[in-house]
Amino acid sequence: MKSTCRLLLLMVYIVSASCVSKKSNLEAADVGQLEEQYEYLYKSIKDVKESPKPMPRTTKNDKLVNVGPYDWTSGFYPGSLWQLYGLTGNDVWKERATAYTEKLDTIQYWEGNHDVGFIIECSYGNGLKYQDSNAYEEVIVQTAKSLSTRFKPNAGVLQSWEWNKKWDCPVIIDNMMNLELLFHATKISGDSTFYDIAVSHADTTIKNHFRDDGSSFHVVDYNPATGEVIQKNTHQGYSDDSAWARGQAWGLYGYVMVYRETKDPKYLRHAEKIANFIKTHPNLPNDQVPYWDYDVSPGENTLRDASAAAITASALLELSTYDTDTSSKDYLKWGNDIIDSLSSKTYLAKVGTNGGFLLKHSVGSKPHGVELDVPLNYADYYYLEALSRQKQISK
Ligand code: GLY
Repeated sequence: MKSTCRLLLLMVYIVSASCVSKKSNLEAADVGQLEEQYEYLYKSIKDVKESPKPMPRTTKNDKLVNVGPYDWTSGFYPGSLWQLYGLTGNDVWKERATAYTEKLDTIQYWEGNHDVGFIIECSYGNGLKYQDSNAYEEVIVQTAKSLSTRFKPNAGVLQSWEWNKKWDCPVIIDNMMNLELLFHATKISGDSTFYDIAVSHADTTIKNHFRDDGSSFHVVDYNPATGEVIQKNTHQGYSDDSAWARGQAWGLYGYVMVYRETKDPKYLRHAEKIANFIKTHPNLPNDQVPYWDYDVSPGENTLRDASAAAITASALLELSTYDTDTSSKDYLKWGNDIIDSLSSKTYLAKVGTNGGFLLKHSVGSKPHGVELDVPLNYADYYYLEALSRQKQISK
């Protein structure tokens, strides 16, 4: 009997030891592959490094598409370089991250777009995780001042856009992501104005953007003088009433982050409601990488959006660290499952392909026929952030 027990214990030990070593070998190989691919991307952009459009965004007809600082995605490439530095500790990535971050210096004064939050928090904000820098802190606070000029106090929201005359004061669900910079600026400066604006925006968005099932509209248009909701539309989704996949991911990530910054449980409950909408949606494919909108007919020819999956995975990993109603293990497993899918050869590009980007199969805007089934710099950024969170959690 005793020897049977010992044999069983030995077998359990051998099986678990082989699992552990398999996992760590895999992890090491994966990060090496990611570094090789980003080395290839870095070399591919050598001609544009000093140009006014130095940031790689996507590919078109197999050629790199680069953008300048005033593109909403300009912070993601420097952000990915910081993430790679965090994952590897390799100083090369830190040097490059610093150089590319500082190309965005002028954005701190830009009042013309809500996405300054994305741009500066992904670049300078990530930089502050790895070094003390008064100069970087000043950039965060100045950007918060610029972003705050977009606050409409009577409506309680930050205006997203002004380029389309069909809307008075449009707010898109994506705008939740820009609040992180405001919270950061209050921590640096002690000025609670930024924090209060972020909370007001988050509360007004819960009230007006969300449906009973936890899904959200893309665009809500306000009367900025009275706060009245004028219309609810989409811009990048399938229809006004549909659930655009990346929008649901921005909402989930946004409320997990607002909970982190405020510790008010209502935001955690709201994040869980969004997570539940995504998880239980009948059109969510088995590999957990959604179609570009939850309301389009599933099928082999319907485009997936890997960027939505990457944002969702990163948000779920953070959600799994909080005291949630659903078991945190479920969120952790789900986040890890999404990362596994994205790390499979279906989505993760071979080194030297995909223009140097990591993930394949994202969608920019299907209704506009723009960036269909392509790599996107923000898909890479949130995938790397998810890997980094996975590493932190497993420590
Ligand atoms: N924030 C723009 C987008 O998600 O496409």
